[in-house]
Amino acid sequence: MLRHLPPIRDPNVLVGPGGRDDAAVYRLSKDVALVATTDFFTPVVDDPFLFGRIAAANALSDVWAMGARPLFALSLASFPIGKLPIEQLGRIIAGAAQACAEAGIDIVGGHSIDDPEPKFGLAVTGTVRPGRVLSNAGGKAGDVLVLTKPLGIGIATTALKRGLASPAIDAAIEQMSTLNRAAGEVCAEARVHALTDVTGFGLLGHLWNIVEGSGVGARIRAADVPLLEGVERLAQDGVVPGGSKRNLTDLVHCLRFADEVPDWMRWILADAQTNGGLLAAVPPRRLKGVLATLEARGVRGWPIGKLVAGGCEIEVR
Ligand code: CO
Ligand code: CO
Repeated sequence: MLRHLPPIRDPNVLVGPGGRDDAAVYRLSKDVALVATTDFFTPVVDDPFLFGRIAAANALSDVWAMGARPLFALSLASFPIGKLPIEQLGRIIAGAAQACAEAGIDIVGGHSIDDPEPKFGLAVTGTVRPGRVLSNAGGKAGDVLVLTKPLGIGIATTALKRGLASPAIDAAIEQMSTLNRAAGEVCAEARVHALTDVTGFGLLGHLWNIVEGSGVGARIRAADVPLLEGVERLAQDGVVPGGSKRNLTDLVHCLRFADEVPDWMRWILADAQTNGGLLAAVPPRRLKGVLATLEARGVRGWPIGKLVAGGCEIEVR
């Protein structure tokens, strides 16, 4: 979509629409840059409070994925006024406010419209030192790829929509509600080489952004990738959102799978996540320290593969 924009001329735009990054970065002075991002979507869960919390946590994530710290947020709401009780919108906003409080920021304003389908999200503004931006372009061959949440959220929410029972549903709700704050702060402090969050394009799609942005290849070990409990079974039963299958199709030109990697695992690797984990390219000598610091902050980091020299290709075995 953004390729329809005219080229950016302002030299203070440090990260713009061309680089497939998580947020835009605008230099205010040699020491300070603003980070701006927005995200909103239709409900992924029935409970309005939880939906607001998840939508806010998801929008905030793109600030942490740039190595930045959020300053404040504006809310964006669509709501079918007169068709659903307006108290539900209040619950959505209360859930978002709870997530923002955990992020250490306030919601300072916003805009809402009457719309047949509810939608909610935030526009978040943050700050970062211009030299400390963690983009998709900084990865180097040899970096270890670390993922901070298990995969399968899109598959689990599809199961929820279809009224299926699976332990993956509760596990997904817990992961979606968990802020990426601690993970982002640890990665920023450790100066990892590249950082992104795994959302709509799935692990493989967001990894592709790092691979292409950094001009390296990647090698993933499927057996090392963490999965939500129960998601393997759902994927084997074909409970996979169309968007996740499309993610995989869109990437065929740059993927090389070992024959042993089954189709259901390929879908999970491409599964669209809502507020998924951070994916970091960590220089090997800092890996132990990063994993230990994450753990001290209550976050598990899973090494799932590495960046390798050579062509832009993702190999999965
Ligand atoms: Co992102
Ligand atoms: Co986004």
